Parts: sequence; C-alpha cells; structure tokens
Amino acid sequence: MADCVRFVHRGQVVTLSDVPPTRTVLDYLREDRGQRGTKEGCNEGDCGACTIVLGTRDGVLGMAEAENIRYRAVNACILFVTALDGKELVTVEDLAGPDGSLHPIQQALVDHHGSQCGFCTPGIVMSLFALYHGEAAPDRSRIDSALAGNLCRCTGYRPIVEAARAMGRAPDAHTAGMMETLALLRSIDRTDTLTHAGGKVFAPATTEQLAALVLAHPGATLVAGGTDVGLWVTKQFRDLGTIIHIGGIRDLARITDADGVITIGAAATVTDAAEILAPLYPDLGELFRRYGSEQVRNSATLGGNIANGSPIGDSMPALIALGARLVLRRGEIVRDMPLEDFFLAYRQTALQPGEFVAAIRVPEPAAGQVFACYKISKRFDQDISAVMAGFSLTLADGIVTEARLAFGGMAGTPKRAAAAEAALIGRPFDDAAARDAAATLAQDFQPLTDMRASADYRLITAGNLILKWRMEQALPTTATRVPAFARAIGGGA
Ligand SMILES: Cc1cc2nc3c(=O)[nH]c(=O)nc-3n(C[C@H](O)[C@H](O)[C@H](O)COP(=O)(O)OP(=O)(O)OC[C@H]3O[C@@H](n4cnc5c(N)ncnc54)[C@H](O)[C@@H]3O)c2cc1C
Ligand code: FES
Ligand code: FES
Repeated sequence: MADCVRFVHRGQVVTLSDVPPTRTVLDYLREDRGQRGTKEGCNEGDCGACTIVLGTRDGVLGMAEAENIRYRAVNACILFVTALDGKELVTVEDLAGPDGSLHPIQQALVDHHGSQCGFCTPGIVMSLFALYHGEAAPDRSRIDSALAGNLCRCTGYRPIVEAARAMGRAPDAHTAGMMETLALLRSIDRTDTLTHAGGKVFAPATTEQLAALVLAHPGATLVAGGTDVGLWVTKQFRDLGTIIHIGGIRDLARITDADGVITIGAAATVTDAAEILAPLYPDLGELFRRYGSEQVRNSATLGGNIANGSPIGDSMPALIALGARLVLRRGEIVRDMPLEDFFLAYRQTALQPGEFVAAIRVPEPAAGQVFACYKISKRFDQDISAVMAGFSLTLADGIVTEARLAFGGMAGTPKRAAAAEAALIGRPFDDAAARDAAATLAQDFQPLTDMRASADYRLITAGNLILKWRMEQALPTTATRVPAFARAIGGGA
C-alpha cells in the first residue's frame, strides 16, 4: 500500500505525507503553502472565492498520442487534500508568466474592468481558466453557467462577461507544457490503495479494492465528491473517523450504455452524468444545469446525492420517475433494486453495513414515454429545492398505461405519489385527469413547513406542477420543444 498523496503542481510531482485526514485544499494552500491568492469566503461551496482547477488525464488512457488533460473548476474549501492524489493542481498563482506577464484571462479582466474590490477575482479567473481550456468559443449561456458559482457583489457581472467573451483561446503555458504534465500524471498513476494518516484514510484504486475495504471497515465514512461531507467538517466540525475516498476510482466512474440502459458508476461526477443523460432527457439537462454550480457538479456524484438519503436532493425524483435502479455491492455480493425502494425513512436507506452504492441504471427513453421534471427553488442557480418533481407517463393509443410521479421536499424521503398516479392510469392525459391527479396529492403527502417553504405552499405547488405539465403537453406539437422548467422560469434553453 502507498502512503503519500501525490499530485502535480507547477511542473513537479508534490509528495505529501502526514496530511491530517480532513485537511482541505484551501487550508493547505493558504496555511501550509502560504499561497493566499485562493480566497476563503463562505467555506461551504457557495461563493466560488476558493475556486481552483484540477487537471486529469482524459482521452484514450494509456495511448500517449491520444491523451489530453481535462481541466475542471472545483471548490477548494470543501475538497480534502487526499482528493488531489493523481491530479494536476492549478491555482491563481500559476497563471501569470515568470516575468509577470498576465494570462489572457487576467489581461481581459483588466482590459474590461472586471475587478473592483478584487475578492472574487481569483475564483473568477480560475472558473474562466477551466472554460478557456474546455470550450473553443463559449456562448453567453456557457459563460453564465461557468460563472454561476462565483459570487461578485461589486461588478454586476457585465464587465466579467465581456472579459470572458474577449479572452480568446490562444495556446497558453499549460497547453505548451501538456505533454510533460501528462508524463508526470502517468508517473503518479496508482493501481494500489493509498493509505495515510495512520491508517485512518484510504483511497482505493479499483472497485475490487473498495469492496474489500468497506467490508473491513463497515463504519468508515465514504467520500465521493465530498460536496456534502466537506460541510460536515467545515461547518459542523465533525470527526469523520476512518475515511474511504472513492472519487479517484476510475472503474467506478465509468458510464456505459448497453441494452437500452445507461449505467452510471457511483463515482461519476454530475458533470459527466449530465453529458450523457441531457441529450436523452432535455429536462434532466436543465435540472443538472441548476444543480449547485459547475464547481459543485465537477466534484459531486449522483451516487453521493442518492446515498446521502436527503429528502431534498435533486436527482432522485427525476430518476425515480424514469424508473432508475440502484446497484449495491457488499464484498462480492451485488444486488439491485428500484431507486424508490432505497429510501426507508428520513435519512435512512437500505444500505447494509459493509455495502456501498456501485451504480445507477437509467433506462433510455421508451416509445410513448413523456417525461418532465421541475425544480422549485428561490434562486435559479445554487439553491436547494423547496419542491422537486419528476413525472413520466407511458401512453398507448392516447391512454396512460403507466404513470410515475415522484416528488422531493414533500415527505421524509423522495417518494412516488401513488394516489395521483392511480388517478391518471387508464384514461387520456387531459385537463380533467391532471386536475384529478393534483387533487389527490393530499392523500400522498403531508409536507412540512420549514425555512424553504410552508406546507401549504408545497402541496399547492406540487399540484400546480401536474397542471402545468399537462398544459405543456397540450402545446401544439409543432412548437419547438423547450425543456419544461426553462419555460417555467423564463430562462433560455
Ligand atoms: C454549494 C452546494 C450546492 C449544492 N447544490 C445542490 C443542488 O442543487 N441539488 C442537490 O441535490 N444537491 C446539491 N448539493 C448537495 C451535494 O452536492 C449533492 O448531494 C452531491 O450529489 C453529493 O455528492 P458527493 O459525491 O459530493 O457526495 P459526498 O459528499 O462525497 O457523500 C455524500 C454521502 O453519500 C455517501 N456516499 C457517497 N458515495 C457513496 C457510495 N458510492 N456508496 C455509499 N455511500 C456513499 C457519503 O458517505 C455521504 O454520506 C449542493 C452542495 C453544495 C456544497
Ligand atoms: S469559500 Fe466559498 S465556495 Fe469555497
Ligand atoms: S470585485 Fe468585489 S466581489 Fe467581485
């Protein structure tokens, strides 16, 4: 077993031993390295002041000439140092040339007056750095999406957007040094389990190693993207005990498509899952666009969203409506179940000690299927849902043969609306059917009042979403299909 965290930074391999188990990358940079360009704002993934970029090997792994480096922005404040293992770290200090010449992004921000007090600027530079390397000619909506996780209270964003439009894509020092960086990344590739912090932290390299470790340490805290777990440390100061990192397991991050089913490995990020699912289900694409921010989606996994067992996670109602199944593994034993059966009670799931979520299986669209999902939250970006709905109907000759309506924020678990579904089956999906289904929701749910919404608001809104869905279905079929909740809030698709 290996015992040091290894990552590439500034053209060199950095080797760290004795890293405290929950040391965040932000604290490591600012306190251990004295690199204070990366800022601390909220310390909970919301403001983007701590944005850094991680580079990973992409393309055809093992074929040097086809390999590439994929750069993605993440929040350093909720990322544990162990998660750097095997990656390239890029911070705001790494962009200007040795002679002080600015990176084209930095120069564009200067030229367009994109910085005032400057507190948000390093984070914005890093988000734009990821965009610079990821997109040849980003349009306005891509730029908005790249900046949605960076709060700026001074500029009003217009000059930042103008800088993003003007930054161009001339090869920079990172492009020029890519082959050397790739060679370094290959040199630190792991096939064995990393263990450090006196045997309290593990990072297996394969699913096989993970299965054995979880069985041997059934009480360990699994960390995938850490976008939930990170806050247990930065906000609740919890001791996580033994930690098993799964975010770096390549075979657990695989997404495959076979026999009409997309299988998403539990370590696949939301960004990667969205890339595959959005073309199949445009509404799901819109949902993922509003899931945290790019920084959050680049770390977060669907597996973590599900395993966390929260009643207000966004993916579950949509995936339940789609008939997704969950693959669980304990040692060598693999079982699968409908996603809705996984949630037993408030934050209680069907996971047994020693078991973990291995994959999520999402069926491809079927003939006669109609699907929509709706996220109701106070803000468009970076907000937790008050109500989340996923709806799917199968129609044969205009008659509903199967209905799957699932809601989040309406009960202690994500849950199907059995009475509302029954009200739709065996009849056309018309106004009367939608009204009947909406009226029966009170039999399915007795929601709570909390800081996000009152019980009445939730119940009325959930019913109105069914009516809204019906109205959208009644639009002329020649109308351009725009994802349902882009229409709902007037956003662009
Ligand atoms: C700023 C911010 C915005 C957010 N916005 C949204 C949002 O819009 N919508 C939303 O739904 N969520 C949101 N979240 C919550 C979070 O990002 C999601 O729940 C995310 O999908 C969790 O995935 P993760 O990989 O980061 O999980 P982690 O934090 O790594 O883990 C979460 C839980 O799942 C367990 N776990 C992880 N993987 C496995 C596995 N394979 N098997 C068993 N257990 C496992 C962990 O032990 C832990 O209990 C947000 C979070 C932040 C910080
Ligand atoms: S400090 Fe605000 S997102 Fe990290
Ligand atoms: S320039 Fe002040 S917060 Fe953005």
